[in-house]
Amino acid sequence: MTQKPIPTPKACHLTKDKTYAYCTCNKSEDRPFCDGNHKDTVRKPLLFKIPETEMIFLCTCGSTQNAPYCDGSH
Ligand code: FES
Repeated sequence: MTQKPIPTPKACHLTKDKTYAYCTCNKSEDRPFCDGNHKDTVRKPLLFKIPETEMIFLCTCGSTQNAPYCDGSH
C-alpha cells in the first residue's frame, strides 16, 4: 500500500492585484488553485488578491483557519 504524501503548504509567487482562485473542494489537480473540477460539487473557489507581489505559502491540507493562507495547522 502506498502512502499519500503529507500535505505541506505550497510556496507561490503571486502578483499584486491579480485575482486568484483557491480550491475549496479538494478535487483540483492544480491545488492549491482551482482548475474547474468543482463543477459537480456545491463548492466554489475562494477568490482572492494580495496587496503586494510576493512569495506566499498557500494551504494544501485544508486545515487552515485563514484560507487560502497556511496558518501552520498541518
Ligand atoms: S476545483 Fe476545487 S474549487 Fe474549483
